[in-house]
Parts: sequence; C-alpha cells; structure tokens
Amino acid sequence: MHILVVDDELSMREFLEVLLTRAGYQVTCVDGVRAAREVLGSAQVDLIVTDMKLGTSQSGMDVLRAVRALPEPPEVIVITAFGTAASAVEAMREGAYDYIGKPFDNEELKLLVQKALEKRSLRRENVSLREHLVPGAGVMGVGRSERMRAVWSLVEKVAPTRSTVLIHGESGTGKELIAKAIHLKSQRAGLPFLPVNCAALNEGVLESELFGHVKGAFTGATQERPGLLVHAGEGTVFLDEIGEVPLATQVKLLRVLQERKVKPVGSAAEIPFHARVVAATNRRLEAEVKAGRFREDLFYRLNVITLELPPLRERAGDIPLLAEHFLERQRQELGRLGLRFSPEALAVLSAYAFPGNVRQLENIVERAATLADGDVLTLASLPPTLRGEPAPSAAAPTEEPSLGSGFSLEHYLDDAERRYLLAALSQAGGVKTRAADLLGLTFRSFRYRLAKHGLSDRDDEA
Ligand SMILES: Nc1ncnc2c1ncn2[C@@H]1O[C@H](COP(=O)(O)OP(=O)(O)OP(=O)(O)O)[C@@H](O)[C@H]1O
Ligand SMILES: [Mg+2]
Repeated sequence: MHILVVDDELSMREFLEVLLTRAGYQVTCVDGVRAAREVLGSAQVDLIVTDMKLGTSQSGMDVLRAVRALPEPPEVIVITAFGTAASAVEAMREGAYDYIGKPFDNEELKLLVQKALEKRSLRRENVSLREHLVPGAGVMGVGRSERMRAVWSLVEKVAPTRSTVLIHGESGTGKELIAKAIHLKSQRAGLPFLPVNCAALNEGVLESELFGHVKGAFTGATQERPGLLVHAGEGTVFLDEIGEVPLATQVKLLRVLQERKVKPVGSAAEIPFHARVVAATNRRLEAEVKAGRFREDLFYRLNVITLELPPLRERAGDIPLLAEHFLERQRQELGRLGLRFSPEALAVLSAYAFPGNVRQLENIVERAATLADGDVLTLASLPPTLRGEPAPSAAAPTEEPSLGSGFSLEHYLDDAERRYLLAALSQAGGVKTRAADLLGLTFRSFRYRLAKHGLSDRDDEA
C-alpha cells in the first residue's frame, strides 16, 4: 500500500515517513499540492495524509480537489490544527475519509490509516468485481482465481466444438453452471439446454427419457415420445450425476454416443441425433471403473475433455467476490440496496473451508441477508459452524509441538491470534468489550489486534 504524505513542514514529513514506513507501508513525502499532483500522475497512491495548512496560499482542500479528478481517487486523511474543527468538517464534506487533530497519538493515526486503506481495498475489490462481471454476468459465473481462469479458458476452447465434455467437481462447485456456460458460448446458444439428473431416475425411466419410447412400450406409454437426445435437436443434453447411471444403461449409452443414434424403448429403428452431450459427476470415475461400478469404455468415451472444478477452499480468493455477487442478488431481490458485509463477517467467510462449496456460500449469504436487522451483515448473521472454533493445535499447549520444515513461529502465533480473536468475537456475539474480556485483554489492546488482522470495522471508534 502506497501512502503519499503532503506537509510543508520538513520535521512533520520526516516524522510521518518514519512512523508509516515502520508500520509497513510504502511512503512518499512531498511539500505541497504541485508536487502531490506530480506523484499522483505517475504512481498509484492508495492514501494521502495531508496537513490542512500548507504554507500561506494552499491547503488540504486543494489536495482533496486534485484527488477528486482522478479515475480511482485515493482516500485522504487530513491533519488539522488544534481548534479548527470547522475546516475539518468542511474537509469531510469535500470527500476526506477522516481527519485527525494535532497533536495526535501515533497509534491512533496508524489505526486510522489502516482503516482508510481497508476501505480502499474493499472499494477496489468492488470495482474489479464489476469489471469481471460485465460479460454475461449472472449466467457465466464469478471467479478470477488462477484455477477458475483456467476453467474459463478451457470453456472457451471446448464450447465451439462438438466433443463430449466431462465435468468433475465436488458437490456445489458449479458443474451445472459450467455446463450451461459451455452451451451458451457455443453456436447452440439459442437452442435447448436439457438437463437430465441420472441419479434421480431408475433404469427404465432414464432410458425412456434419454432415448424415447414407442406407444405401448411399457404400461403408461400411451403415446410415442422422442427422447431428450433427439428432442434437443442441435442443442445440448446435460447428463448430470453420470456416475449414478446403472451398468445396464451404461452399455446402451456407450453405443448411443458412439453411433450418434438412439433406439427408442420398444422400437427396433434407430434415430440419429445431433445434440451435444455434456456430463458431470462428483465421483472419481477412475475409481468407479476400478471398483467395477462404471464401464471403462464409457469412461473413455465421455472423458475426451475433462473439466476439473476446484473446490472453493482451494480458491479462497474467490470467496469475497462470490459473496459480493450473491449479496448483490439479495440487494436486488430484497430491495435493500445498502446491504453489506462487516469486515469480520467477510474475514470469517474467507477463512471457512466450505464443504458444500459455492452453493453453501450462496445459501449462507441469502440466510444472512434475510436475518440481518440493519444493513450490515455481521458475525451474528452467519451460521454458528462458521464462527471460528479455535484451532486444536493452538488449544493444546501441553502437546509436544511438531516442527516440520517450513514451520514459522511467527506465522503460527499470528494464525492462532487470529483464530482466538474470531472465536472470542463469535462467543461474545460480536460485542467487542465482552470479546476482549474473554481473551483477558484490555479493550484497547483487543481493538488494536483486530485492526492488525484487518478485522475491525468503522464503529470500533465509537
Ligand atoms: N462461479 C460461480 N459464480 C456464480 N455462481 C456460481 C458459481 N459457481 C456456482 N455458482 C452457483 O452455485 C450454485 C451451485 O452451482 P451448481 O448447481 O452448478 O453446482 P453443482 O456442482 O452442479 O452442484 P451439485 O453437485 O450439488 O449438483 C448455483 O446456484 C450456481 O449458480
Ligand atoms: Mg448439479
């Protein structure tokens, strides 16, 4: 994070440079508005800390005005002299993030800086989210982790072809969404996309669904009916849960895919079909083949192109993006446009392993939005399972520690601190003074630690 300090007084510039550099930021110092403009024009600046009084002819207000013209304006904190509250209020009105009066407490300033930068990165996240969403938003899905980018680029490549695609991924990872994306990105887009849940249908019904039947083929078959493979025309048939297809049907399916002809139940005639087939499963078909539950030949037939959908925990970077995506849907559906996550809630979501993957996240956000009293979705609106249980390793100090290669005491303690902060917040129902008590910390020290882990939110100052 890059901070620009604007102050006409050398001693103040030097002081702030040392303080903020020690706090881990990249710092540039200038003495006035002109030099500030030059830096802003040539480097990315995330935050400006400026004195209100800059020499005789200029002020922090000029800095604020210079900033407003930028496409991605940094946050601004204004330092005001004692007894100039009116100008501080004016600065806020001009878009300053906050102000701090001289003389100030170092820690107070650092906290303010940290919060301003938090706000900045949240805002940038939103901007890039919007950028990412532009092409075909809802249908195509969200995700810009390396893993998802690889998936999207494969989708682009396979969509225009006729190859059979097999999608593999845990439950809720978005297999159906990807199947649809493949359909929508192909020339078949305007044609039917027909999903068949192979797990929900017994052998007979599944075959007549897929291949069709003639009149009188079985009790209840009062009319001839084409199967979905024919009915889809040049569209796409999505064979969901392909791993659950009974072995006897697997044999028939293999023949059908090889010859691109179906024989409706009860008929001797074969009908050609042109639909594209996309299949999905949450099972490891290789293992199913070894166990004798899935035909090897069908596996190879389906497995021409395999798309592996990573579980959400292996692309945790996508969690805030997806959470925001689902929250946006709730905003629209509930007509509550102010809904947003507290940083703590977002942090807890980002740290969770999501055994139910994207679907689980979607449900959690929907639930939280429905339960939230105000506009802010806090820890209290998340399901109890999510609110950090302390790590067993950290909870058992009597155990002999294991020191594998790559062990770092600093990371370990940092991680433990974070987990305990979250656990205390959760047990205290988000009430920070109580959480501090639970940890045997003063409120001040607790608040400081929250900020250090990026877990604090605005009302902390209250
Ligand atoms: N990348 C994504 N962006 C936005 N929404 C997504 C994304 N991936 C999945 N979803 C949403 O998550 C939910 C689950 O996705 P989907 O039904 O495609 O998963 P699945 O892998 O087929 O799950 P299951 O194995 O349980 O059938 C859907 O509501 C889907 O819209
Ligand atoms: Mg599915």
